Amino acid sequence: MPAIVVVGGQWGDEGKGRIVDHLAKQAQVVVRYSGGNNAGHTVINDGGTFDLHLVPAGIFYPSVRSVIGNGVVVDPESLLQEMQMLEDRGVSLEGLVISDRAHLVMPYHKTLDRLQEQSWGDWSIGSTMRGIGPAYTDKAARLGIRMAELLDEEAFRDRLAFVLAEKNRLLTQMYGEAPLDFEEVFSRYWSLGQRLARYIKPTERLVQEAAAAQRTIVLEGAQGTLLDPDYGTYPYVTSSHPTAGGAATGSGLAPTQIDRVMGVFKAYCTRVGDGPLPTELHNEIGERLRTLAHEYGVTTGRPRRCGWFDGVIGRYSVQINGMTAVALTRLDILDTFSEIGIGVAYELDGQRLDYPPSNVAEMERCRPIYETAPGWLTPITACRRFEDLPPAAQQYVTRLEQVLGCPVALISVGPQREEIIVRQAVL
Ligand code: IMO
Ligand code: MG
Repeated sequence: MPAIVVVGGQWGDEGKGRIVDHLAKQAQVVVRYSGGNNAGHTVINDGGTFDLHLVPAGIFYPSVRSVIGNGVVVDPESLLQEMQMLEDRGVSLEGLVISDRAHLVMPYHKTLDRLQEQSWGDWSIGSTMRGIGPAYTDKAARLGIRMAELLDEEAFRDRLAFVLAEKNRLLTQMYGEAPLDFEEVFSRYWSLGQRLARYIKPTERLVQEAAAAQRTIVLEGAQGTLLDPDYGTYPYVTSSHPTAGGAATGSGLAPTQIDRVMGVFKAYCTRVGDGPLPTELHNEIGERLRTLAHEYGVTTGRPRRCGWFDGVIGRYSVQINGMTAVALTRLDILDTFSEIGIGVAYELDGQRLDYPPSNVAEMERCRPIYETAPGWLTPITACRRFEDLPPAAQQYVTRLEQVLGCPVALISVGPQREEIIVRQAVL
């Protein structure tokens, strides 16, 4: 019956896919509400390991409607590849639906993403180069092209002719690049659209019908709160809203129809791409976290920067999203550390701060103030109840709850589906 948002509490890659997969078995609808194929959501189930980028993590349950919501930007080529991969591995796409209001990622978006990253120097973002920023830029600039147009040859031709002329001026006059050929882009995208046509629908109606029928709806976030253009480490952020607010604008559900917000936090911190990460460890502990947890981007393969849990941004995330419960992932990665740091505050120019500053230059200067928690030095992957965890692991979780100001309802203790401790019913 409830609608629950699953939102990343840190800088992305918190394990949202895994948590959505866990909740989806009790849901009828899963809606991805923001981002594009910059996301990489890994789900491990009986069929093996699946890396999803655009398809919602509900797809493995045949009875679930898996909706790519209006807040998502869709690269149709990448989506079709993902769909093919799923079908090849025996996953049915019957439940998949794509919003006709979702914007398209066009070839010039990917070119512009690369050109911007190359020319911005110190201010480059370390983006995933998937054209996501330029696609959302065009959405806001009223220069976007949506799924709905992809179904109407006349409308698509008209719209593309106008937009491409504008983009070609930018590519040639500002960047000295070759212009894109209209007929080539048109015919390529038209044929991609034909292959996607049967999935494209006004999904907000479907979502509203599900809500009216008291169905359980999971709203799947991408990225994380600290990558939000408002609340993140701007300008080192993504271009859509990963936060719970984005779940309403991006899914077709209204804020009053959302009952719960589950924040997903890794038991430590990672970040891929540029921008501040106050608890980053430039030492062998950071290396060990990366190696043990294989912290490399699912989308780009880049090594992730690693550090201790940051309670300052954690608490902020809980508040900004109105989290009602937390899922703590990858606790088992800490099994072999004799001491574990928890960032509880920042020191900025001699002052103690308990919230992240808005000015990114100040955020870069923040030094974490740590508490040290004792490690448990025992494998925990076999634990299924909170009481089964070694006392030091229980204390670590309890301390994080205090620091965050939110109860930890789920704890993942290993990568497999069943390797999870359910402390409180979430749905
Ligand atoms: P999931 O859903 C981690 C980061 C990029 C870059 C910044 C902007 O797997 O948690 P963009 O391509 O969005 O313009 O890049 O955001 N980024 C992510 N980092 N997880 C993600 O998604 C990310 N999606 C984007 O590395 O720093
Ligand atoms: Mg990821």
